[in-house]
Amino acid sequence: MARNKIALIGAGQIGGTLAHLAGLKELGDVVLFDIAEGTPEGKALDIAESAPVDGFDAKLSGTQSYEAIAGADVVIVTAGVPRKPGMSRDDLVEINLKVMQQVGAGIAKYAPDAFVICITNPLDAMVWALQKFSNLPKNKVVGMAGVLDSARFRHFLADKFDVSVKDVTAFVLGGHGDTMVPLTRYSTVAGIPLTDLVKMGWLTQEELDQIVQRTRDGGAEIVSLLKTGSAFYAPAASAIQMAESYLKDQKRVLPCAAHLSGEYGVDGLYCGVPTVIGAGGIERVVEIDLNGDEKAMLDHSIDAVKGLVEACQRISPDLA
Ligand code: APR
Repeated sequence: MARNKIALIGAGQIGGTLAHLAGLKELGDVVLFDIAEGTPEGKALDIAESAPVDGFDAKLSGTQSYEAIAGADVVIVTAGVPRKPGMSRDDLVEINLKVMQQVGAGIAKYAPDAFVICITNPLDAMVWALQKFSNLPKNKVVGMAGVLDSARFRHFLADKFDVSVKDVTAFVLGGHGDTMVPLTRYSTVAGIPLTDLVKMGWLTQEELDQIVQRTRDGGAEIVSLLKTGSAFYAPAASAIQMAESYLKDQKRVLPCAAHLSGEYGVDGLYCGVPTVIGAGGIERVVEIDLNGDEKAMLDHSIDAVKGLVEACQRISPDLA
């Protein structure tokens, strides 16, 4: 059987890390595309030269031509600009929307059967625009945010409790931004909800609130430390988990920015929800009952996503 083909649009910090992880996990051959001449070629060659040491078989190549992504099974999009300190993800709308237009056209022409994972920020609006520009099926175009946001939540919780990250699960809903909704009653340690762990004295409600806020600010915390860019190791690992679930038909239940057609009362927008990812792309959106507070937080988050989508429509009226 021929190897899978993974196309990475954008060969910057996240793109390079994606290529390395895809190689290490032998997910398939990797094509790195970037407008910056030499960057994708250099990263591809560097990673290919690590393959004999780590013992993986994958062909890696770099390109400035969309033709080279032809027939890709998975396309992961990080093209665009990242945040600098003091910027919000929303400050990136105008410039990254133009990038999505080019990328959408390239994918439509050369990889229309691919499962497309968008990482470019502001995520919920960029994935929405990418689906419109590419016109690929909505269940095959998805945004990476929830796996990352819940990984951050899980890390902070495991660190606090001094337990394995493997035994901590987290549930995060909503847009990938300051309004994201970490759901404490569905986040657990070995199946015990955080709300029970507060009653058991593992942490106080105040400490839990602080961890929730740190999760919401998780991206900004890294930006302020790095100063020259945004997070890349955890975002890349998160997208690779989604790609793997698709390529291997694992049917993992993963929180992603998925197109909603009525679920959670949302129609025609992308928003972070639990999904099942398998060979059919997004095979199911898992809809749970929310209590009043949770619903209010989700509605607030959805309003923020709506605002970004409207900003995109003002810039590019054909996106209406
Ligand atoms: N087509 C292809 N590649 C492009 C284009 C374009 N039109 N415009 C920019 N790029 C490339 C840049 O040349 C750069 O190599 O996208 C790459 C982006 O890489 P970085 O600047 O290192 O950014 P990165 O940290 O990888 O983040 C990428 O993901 O998390 C989001 O907010 C982040 O939107 C940002 C994206």
